[in-house]
Amino acid sequence: MSQGTHALEGSALAAYEAFAPFYDRYTADHGHDEWMADVDAILRGYGAPGDRLLDVACGTGKSFVPMLARGWRVTACDISPAMVERGVRSSAPAGRFASQTCATFPGGAPSTPQPASTIP
Ligand SMILES: C[S@@+](CC[C@H](N)C(=O)[O-])C[C@H]1O[C@@H](n2cnc3c(N)ncnc32)[C@H](O)[C@@H]1O
Repeated sequence: MSQGTHALEGSALAAYEAFAPFYDRYTADHGHDEWMADVDAILRGYGAPGDRLLDVACGTGKSFVPMLARGWRVTACDISPAMVERGVRSSAPAGRFASQTCATFPGGAPSTPQPASTIP
């Protein structure tokens, strides 16, 4: 990974750590539910196999929580622990921590924390 990429990740981390307490309020009228209903219909329309989703840069879970409600099993990760912490809270009781910045919902996270790269 280049130094430029590291610098960008550092600024994204700092920005979203600070933004986390306000993110859900700021995006309250962004229509995630309707948006994800469309995504769900498209996935099913194309016959996407299985019931597992990977949400990279999941934030507070505003996109994956509606997919959990539609029966998908979700693995999610984000660079910001503060965003993920809220995602885990908003998906409780289905959510279980797999590591500081990655979580698997429901369907079973490993019982001990492990790096995101090792989550099956
Ligand atoms: C605009 S928010 C979107 C959150 C969520 N997907 C949603 O629909 O509300 C962007 C998210 O990307 C995350 N992010 C930014 N750069 C990242 C990176 N390099 N790796 C993982 N997550 C990253 C931020 O921490 C933030 O939670």
